[in-house]
Amino acid sequence: CAVELDGHRHFMHKEIHEQPQAVSDTLEGRIAGDQVLVEAFGPEARSVFAEVERVQIVACGTSYHAGLTARYWLEDILRLPCGAEVASEFRYRNPVLQDNTLFVFISQSGETADTLAAMEQVRAERDSQGLNLPMLAICNVPESSLTRGADLTLLTHAGPEIGVASTKAFTTQLVALALLLVSLGKVQQRLSPEREARIVAGLKKLPRLIEGALVHEPQLEALARIFVDKHNALFLGRGTHYPIAMEGALKLKEISYIHAEAYPAGELKHGPLALVDENLPIVAVAPADDLLEKLKSNLQEVRARGGRMIIIADERAGIASEPGLEVVPAATHVGRITAPITLNIPLQLLAYHVAVLRGTDVDRPRNLAKSVTVE
Ligand code: G6P
Repeated sequence: CAVELDGHRHFMHKEIHEQPQAVSDTLEGRIAGDQVLVEAFGPEARSVFAEVERVQIVACGTSYHAGLTARYWLEDILRLPCGAEVASEFRYRNPVLQDNTLFVFISQSGETADTLAAMEQVRAERDSQGLNLPMLAICNVPESSLTRGADLTLLTHAGPEIGVASTKAFTTQLVALALLLVSLGKVQQRLSPEREARIVAGLKKLPRLIEGALVHEPQLEALARIFVDKHNALFLGRGTHYPIAMEGALKLKEISYIHAEAYPAGELKHGPLALVDENLPIVAVAPADDLLEKLKSNLQEVRARGGRMIIIADERAGIASEPGLEVVPAATHVGRITAPITLNIPLQLLAYHVAVLRGTDVDRPRNLAKSVTVE
């Protein structure tokens, strides 16, 4: 195998630590000064993006979680209607396809059967109905089935990802989606040059922000002990950090085999609060955004019922550790785009160290495949 462990115990660990470089590589050649180069999506990208009235994202697994995060960004920042759906649902529910919808297919491998089938379905419909449905692939593998079928492509330059649990591919998918957000926004004049410059400055800072999050590995390794003998865990977030909580739960379940569920924190009282006791560790993602006060009151609901909590926080969230509640201050000076990308990193490290402690086959978890090429 050409890809080496380079002193790491597992590929997943190596790939987690490669993320600052993977982000730099994905930005390379796609930004100039304080602007995003729309042509990075292809020579026709400008004319294609000008016609777009809505965006529909289709993907599976971790790639779907990247799409869900982008849905929050596109609607909030650009006011552009955006949906995100798992490919296996999209393709069988006979969805209504509206003219001038940009389809975004996200896939690390570019070979996932359901995602490819969804792409073929969109192609068939646009041909039979004469609709304008441009298809963009965000993919880590050039010359894959997905990139060959797409009208526009943006490659994530994460490099080969060997661990079945996706880490650096996810992070670079979010970077690619941020580049898409800015490109759509400027072509359609939905984004001011000042806002573009601020987003680009954030993206340039991202490798350092991720390094800052990786520094907390020893604390996360210690916290992993809480999970070793547990059967369940709950992950909470709100807004863009709800998909990040979903991704954190997926990472934990796929490599440690602990059942983990993610919930939007505001929904706690509609069910999962009944599960909370000292045997259910709860991981919450707490950015310093306009939902912070609401999140804090959700967390109080959990604390009052004896739940053991780990909070992955922006330092500015002002949440302090206390008995039964540990704060991992993994980010500071993060914004709307950089916060979810940065706060996801500790969740990867937590899942990794729980799996190592439980002695699972971290890079090749049971029953799972890196690329699911059959339905
Ligand atoms: C499998 C992998 C996941 C991945 C998903 C989608 O389930 O184990 O890590 O997120 O497929 O794969 P794709 O290559 O389309 O991103």
